[in-house]
Amino acid sequence: MEKKVFIKTFGCQMNEYDSEKINDVLAKKNKLIETKEQKDADLIVLNTCSIREKAEVKVYSDLGRIRKLKEANPNLRVAVGGCVASQEGANIIKKAPYVDVVFGPQTLHRLPDLLKAREKNGKPQIDISFPEIEKFDRLPMSKHTGPSAMISIMEGCSKYCSFCVVPYTRGEEVSRPLNDILTEIIATGVSEITLLGQNVNAYRGLMDNGEVADFATLIEYVSEIKEIKRIRFSTSHPNEMNDALIDCFSNIDKLAKMIHLPIQAGSDVVLSAMKRNYTTLEYKSIIRKLRKRCPDISITSDFIVGFPTETLNDFNSTKLLMRELEFDYSYSFIYSPRPGTPASYLKDLTTHEEKLERLHELQMSNVAQGEIFTQNMLGTTQRVLIDSKSKKKSGVFIGKTDNNRVVEIEGDESLLNQFVSVKINQILNKNIQGTILN
Ligand code: SAH
Ligand code: F3S
Repeated sequence: MEKKVFIKTFGCQMNEYDSEKINDVLAKKNKLIETKEQKDADLIVLNTCSIREKAEVKVYSDLGRIRKLKEANPNLRVAVGGCVASQEGANIIKKAPYVDVVFGPQTLHRLPDLLKAREKNGKPQIDISFPEIEKFDRLPMSKHTGPSAMISIMEGCSKYCSFCVVPYTRGEEVSRPLNDILTEIIATGVSEITLLGQNVNAYRGLMDNGEVADFATLIEYVSEIKEIKRIRFSTSHPNEMNDALIDCFSNIDKLAKMIHLPIQAGSDVVLSAMKRNYTTLEYKSIIRKLRKRCPDISITSDFIVGFPTETLNDFNSTKLLMRELEFDYSYSFIYSPRPGTPASYLKDLTTHEEKLERLHELQMSNVAQGEIFTQNMLGTTQRVLIDSKSKKKSGVFIGKTDNNRVVEIEGDESLLNQFVSVKINQILNKNIQGTILN
């Protein structure tokens, strides 16, 4: 009988991408078929996240449940990958001895060998090393069914913000060679591609002529691929925004007019303690340039509240700045001390209740601003990629705009997987409707 694998993904888009790759490698080397039912699985893979404590706690409570499954079926195999695996390593086996394999974000291509070694010597296997770019050279090409795909262009982060665990769990920045990326994009056959990395704009990839391409150059090359009609990317860092990249938003029509540019805080004192290496003034000047080159660009951001040194004054500056910059929907998080990070040794000034209050305030603002942005789309023309059929309304199709709004359009099956120009003519709460322009 065919053996099955169940993969559960926690956290960011990078993990979603990695899970696709885990699936590909297990299908090719171990002939495992993916199942959506954990109880049918012969192998359970948890692709974990450790960016905040909550994400980590979820992994251990899942493992608790899996333990019962394993007691009932000793042939079940359990593998833990991703950032918790990278951070905890052998500790996972100590806490959950029924786990068979622990692998990191950079060693997922070794999973088949680790599973084999587990069968051979009957002991749990651990490999959380960072063998640089080896991962990408060893992975099979993936197949895509829908019109969109994600592709990882670089791994890791070398910025070492004082609160963040990513440089320790994913390693330092490493970029894939330009041609490898282009070849993989062409092979997917999709019309929309999302370029992924912890800091995509820190991309410095080798070209065949020995020169190094920066992120703007990569975007230019990707835009030359005929089949690709829209390019997205995530995430970028303010310190890696150069003029060439800003110009892409006005010069390259295929580039979606949106950018996620985390600022984290609106107080220079806090930004400095976070080691973000920019001031609010520098950040504002980037936003000004972006809007000058591309007036209707949607800009989203990340905010952390309750950073250990954050005073009420600091928080008020963050609130003000958020309104002033008129972001589209943004994300706010409560600061979570991460093991081994410099910020985790700082004295925390706020109570959990204060943090919750600050979070609530910012999130109300996030939502309100996103809604203003939506309302302003009324009457505009948007580029929409139709990717599905409405389940509730017949003859209605659904697609996404550049700034990720879901739009409903009347039409027929021929629209599926197509890009269309849509005039937005009705917005009721979250429901956006439009008609196709010729
Ligand atoms: N590369 C991105 C960040 C990736 S992590 C950048 O340029 O900043 C995604 C988001 O998680 C961060 O932007 C930050 O807002 C949040 N985050 C990271 N570490 C955190 C922590 N220890 N506590 C709370 N939020 C955190
Ligand atoms: Fe984390 Fe800062 Fe890098 S938030 S991912 S260390 S840019």
